[in-house]
Amino acid sequence: MCGIVGYIGKRDVAPLLLEGLQRLEYRGYDSAGIVIAGKSGGLKAVKAKGRVRELEARVPKRFAGTTGIAHTRWATHGAPSDENAHPHLDTEGKVAVVHNGIVDNASELRAKLEADGVVFASETDSEVITHLIARSQAASLEEKVREALKVVEGTYGIAVMHADFPDRIVAARNGSPVVLGIGEKEMFVASDVAALISHTRQVVTLDDGEMATLKADDFRTYTTSGTRTTATPETVEWEAASYDMGGHDTYMHKEICEQPDAVDRVLRGRIDDKFSTVHLGGLNLDAREARGIRRVKILGCGTSFHAGMIGASLIEGLARIPADSEPASEFRYRNPVVDPDTLYIAVSQSGETYDVLAAVQELKRKGARVLGVVNVVGSAIARETDGGVYVHAGPEVCVVSTKCFTNTVVAFALLALHLGRIRDLSVADGKRIIEGLRALPEQIQEILTQEEDIKKLAADYAEAKSMMFIGRVRGYPVALEASLKLKEISYIHAEAYPASELKHGPLALIEPAMPTVAIVPDDSLLEKNRAAMEEIKARSGRILAVAHREQEKADHTIVVPKNEDELDPILMGIPLQLLAYHTALALGRDIDKPRNLAKSVTVE
Ligand code: AGP
Repeated sequence: MCGIVGYIGKRDVAPLLLEGLQRLEYRGYDSAGIVIAGKSGGLKAVKAKGRVRELEARVPKRFAGTTGIAHTRWATHGAPSDENAHPHLDTEGKVAVVHNGIVDNASELRAKLEADGVVFASETDSEVITHLIARSQAASLEEKVREALKVVEGTYGIAVMHADFPDRIVAARNGSPVVLGIGEKEMFVASDVAALISHTRQVVTLDDGEMATLKADDFRTYTTSGTRTTATPETVEWEAASYDMGGHDTYMHKEICEQPDAVDRVLRGRIDDKFSTVHLGGLNLDAREARGIRRVKILGCGTSFHAGMIGASLIEGLARIPADSEPASEFRYRNPVVDPDTLYIAVSQSGETYDVLAAVQELKRKGARVLGVVNVVGSAIARETDGGVYVHAGPEVCVVSTKCFTNTVVAFALLALHLGRIRDLSVADGKRIIEGLRALPEQIQEILTQEEDIKKLAADYAEAKSMMFIGRVRGYPVALEASLKLKEISYIHAEAYPASELKHGPLALIEPAMPTVAIVPDDSLLEKNRAAMEEIKARSGRILAVAHREQEKADHTIVVPKNEDELDPILMGIPLQLLAYHTALALGRDIDKPRNLAKSVTVE
């Protein structure tokens, strides 16, 4: 997804912005551009289709300045090209805009501007913002931007420069993240802290409907209608080093290997042995309210939706509250009945996924209580919800989610334990779950030591054109997530089914060329899962089982350590992350930046 970085201060801006863009590369993009205020006045721009290094190669030697904005673009309106890359400049080259989001009424605005004689240089929706600002007769840049935004419908995070106002950058946000980085006599603006964290950890996150003016030694924030807002900088906990590869070949590998530490972090300081429960500081839900909940509805997209499915089964199992998980993208369009006794939980790693945010806003408009299970502190969903649990996985850079999935499920286990102990979960069961949670980091480490064996299996299965993943009840979301992981990075087609559904249709697909990955925990459904494997074997299907002991019916078994039944799904997903990783590696895929995908989907 698009990325923004801007700087105003005393340093040479071009290298700073290029470094910022590199730090945003993980979000996925197809072109990039940079504009600076030249020393002798006027704006100078360079754009390039492709990677940031192609942009860097085009930046001339004499490109000095101390103020600039830059962008990585992920095409929505108009193909990836030099012309469609941001920043977009007006005809006179005085105004430059970088924009994340989508202008919904772009064609209408464009037609009006063209009728007035404006000649567009690109096919993008974003360029209309530039021309609207350029044509405004208002006296200040802030007023010009405000006037332009009045007629823009849609989502935006923007940064604007104007040759007549070289002492400032103006930014605005509506539905697309914008953070300000506060330095010593220098200021940054970005769509993601990743772009500025190596320079400052003091940040201000803009709210929707908020604007900011950045000068080298000062910043101020105000609403789009001009009222001043108070913005106190917060310190970002994440270290700049968390965004480095740390000796691994890919971010995905680094993030898979980080899971023992990440799980340790989500547990830290939260377990209360005295009452066999957990403390969740930011929940904002007292015991009486918790007892009044009659239903839990979890909403997320992709991997977060899958984590929510396991979360629902944990809440239902431990707290005995009916719970289910639904894709937020579907929920918001089906005019859902919003029930006052239902607790709604929005799940999102980035905290910026548009579909999830829109579902939260719709729920809140209808008076629902919405909690968040979110990784990025201070993100839009974290701010929009009434309380929640941070998953503390640290920054996840790879487009595909691994450690955030695991930590989100652990966060759900904590929430389920908390709700359970307020309701009918016994002290003994509380203790049992706490012991299980404490065992997780070491057990994950134990699974990671099997990487070489999994790599060999991956080389074997990489030849498949299509794969089936099956699991029952708790194992089904594990199968769904594992199949998503495989298709996202290896591009092998994969299907996930409840094992119980096999004979209702998908069994027709089974043949030697369609291997099956079966999730086979040692629980009350073991024999049922074995029967499903038997059916596959009878159709000459190959089976790779993930189980707590060798499975006779399987061609290969990855044995994982046993935990409590409720927590087993957390461990069973981990070898399958490695399987997807090594399969993609064997096929020579671009693992951290899979085709057509972006890290956070901030547009519909
Ligand atoms: C995960 O591997 C995917 N890239 C994707 O499904 C992702 O989980 C989804 O877009 C939701 O993102 P979020 O957790 O940041 O809201």
